[in-house]
Amino acid sequence: MSCYRNGIKCMLLLFFMGLAALNTYSYWRDSLNVNTLNTSMHPEVIVEQSPSTTPFQCPFESWNQVHSDIVPNENLHLEWIQNNISRRDNILESQIRLLSSFVYPDHISIITNSQRSYGQKVYCRYFNCLREEISNSSYQSIFFPMNVIRCPRRIGVKYMSISFDSEEIPQEPIPLVYRVFEVFNMNEYSRKIIDEYLRTGEIELTVIQSEYKTIDWQFHLLQINECHQRSKHHSKWVINVDIDERLVILDDKIKSVGSLLSGYNNTVAEVGFAIRRIQKTEKLPEKYESDEQIISEMEFLKYNVSSPVSWGAYKTIYRPEKIAAMYYHWAYQRYPDTVAEYVKSEIALFRHYRSTEKNILGSGWLTDPNYKNFSIVSEETKLAEKLKENVLKKIKYVYDPRVLYCEEIAEIPYEEYKEFGHDIFNCTFRNETGSNKSAD
Ligand SMILES: *[C@@H]1O[C@H](CO)[C@@H](O)[C@H](O)[C@H]1NC(C)=O
Ligand SMILES: *[C@@H]1O[C@H](CO)[C@@H](O)[C@H](O)[C@H]1NC(C)=O
Ligand SMILES: *[C@@H]1O[C@H](CO)[C@@H](O)[C@H](O)[C@H]1NC(C)=O
Ligand SMILES: *[C@@H]1O[C@H](CO)[C@@H](O)[C@H](O)[C@H]1NC(C)=O
Ligand SMILES: *[C@@H]1O[C@H](CO)[C@@H](O)[C@H](O)[C@H]1NC(C)=O
Ligand SMILES: *[C@@H]1O[C@H](CO)[C@@H](O)[C@H](O)[C@H]1NC(C)=O
Ligand SMILES: *[C@@H]1O[C@H](CO)[C@@H](O)[C@H](O)[C@H]1NC(C)=O
Ligand SMILES: *[C@@H]1O[C@H](CO)[C@@H](O)[C@H](O)[C@H]1NC(C)=O
Ligand SMILES: *[C@@H]1O[C@H](CO)[C@@H](O)[C@H](O)[C@H]1NC(C)=O
Repeated sequence: MSCYRNGIKCMLLLFFMGLAALNTYSYWRDSLNVNTLNTSMHPEVIVEQSPSTTPFQCPFESWNQVHSDIVPNENLHLEWIQNNISRRDNILESQIRLLSSFVYPDHISIITNSQRSYGQKVYCRYFNCLREEISNSSYQSIFFPMNVIRCPRRIGVKYMSISFDSEEIPQEPIPLVYRVFEVFNMNEYSRKIIDEYLRTGEIELTVIQSEYKTIDWQFHLLQINECHQRSKHHSKWVINVDIDERLVILDDKIKSVGSLLSGYNNTVAEVGFAIRRIQKTEKLPEKYESDEQIISEMEFLKYNVSSPVSWGAYKTIYRPEKIAAMYYHWAYQRYPDTVAEYVKSEIALFRHYRSTEKNILGSGWLTDPNYKNFSIVSEETKLAEKLKENVLKKIKYVYDPRVLYCEEIAEIPYEEYKEFGHDIFNCTFRNETGSNKSAD
């Protein structure tokens, strides 16, 4: 839905993958936020100047008074591990770096960057607000799925780490957070639009500092697992799609993806959607030049050569608590007593504006029998018009800065300008420009 609403992401950020989460299920987050406002998640620790007999006490937080002895479903996970369910080892010599850690009512998840640790033994290590290890707290756990470690809860824990034996000095702990956007590689120009979405609160960001100079597409699975764990007890549904895909609701009676999903009862763990692949024959422009350029480059206006509807690489919207392990597009393993449902393609589907470039991952699909019977399927006009306006507005807000005219400078600073010279204001006189075109 995020992609659907914010077409700009589809326009500009093709080179990394985004996973969007619906914020409709926020009881856990809300209860945490209340506490967070009261006692900060990162309390300022005031170091006393003079020696004192009363040591600093970490704040008491009602949400953080939970101790549990077990990890939910651990036996089931062990059974799946024995059968290699969802196993996909890779990058066999990588370091094991900590990415993030999330707290839920009955457990904690730690997410790492390791694609090679499936089923391995590992110790959860717990730290208080001063990053001091909580005594007698460590727990022997296991990696499942791929890069995820689950740990029981401990009272007062604020930072988590791991070690491979219980005596070893653990890695530098990372904060426990409760709150999607994941970034591996991005240039400064693209980062500007990410910052804009952060500003408006439409996304959250996880920056993955990789040890490698380059990464390949399979690192995507690390991110899928991170998004999955991040969303548990926070978002009721997670849309597991890439930035070049857009959900389209074709049935007029259904007003939003929310109302579509609310039709499914609590046993439904994932909802599958068919795909139409639309040929995206050119690259997006590197930079904003003009409104005309952006309008002519908007994918949903520019491209309309579509494959037939396909279930070949269908995509899902899923309930994070009900899924044990995700694969690229769908759940590899659901927890027991759940079902998957599939939406009829006449009701809704994803349009995938897929590159036709040669020699890239998944190239050659133009001649694939599943896709090759192409036809023209145009975008629904009303939606396209609205999306066009919103995309343009957002792009211009971020990428269309204007010239600073010296005439805008008020009298007093202007006096300083005269004293210190042109450079300190870096402005342009109207009579020097000839036009008002932006400099960049
Ligand atoms: C902080 O929490 C306590 C107990 O939960 C409450 O009595 C107090 O009013 C809260 N303070 C603020 C500033 O919200
Ligand atoms: C699981 O995968 C590992 C590594 O590829 C392999 O050594 C092992 O035999 C597999 N076990 C089963 C039950 O397939
Ligand atoms: C350490 O924790 C375990 C399990 O929580 C408990 O059984 C044991 O008594 C504790 N030991 C000490 C010294 O507190
Ligand atoms: C819940 O939905 C599933 C699948 O849509 C269906 O099979 C099941 O009967 C429903 N259960 C109830 C209690 O309505
Ligand atoms: C190709 O698509 C057209 C229009 O969608 C359809 O009428 C035709 O039967 C299809 N042909 C094949 C071989 O699938
Ligand atoms: C399909 O796209 C082409 C190129 O953008 C355009 O000229 C044509 O009018 C479109 N056709 C339909 C039916 O939307
Ligand atoms: C003035 O702006 C230009 C273009 O953005 C920049 O390269 C330059 O460093 C600026 N000069 C000062 C003094 O800020
Ligand atoms: C433009 O205007 C400024 C301020 O009025 C003046 O100092 C400057 O000489 C003018 N430049 C040109 C090229 O006319
Ligand atoms: C420059 O901007 C002013 C208002 O800021 C406008 O009146 C004028 O027409 C613009 N000139 C050009 C050449 O675009």
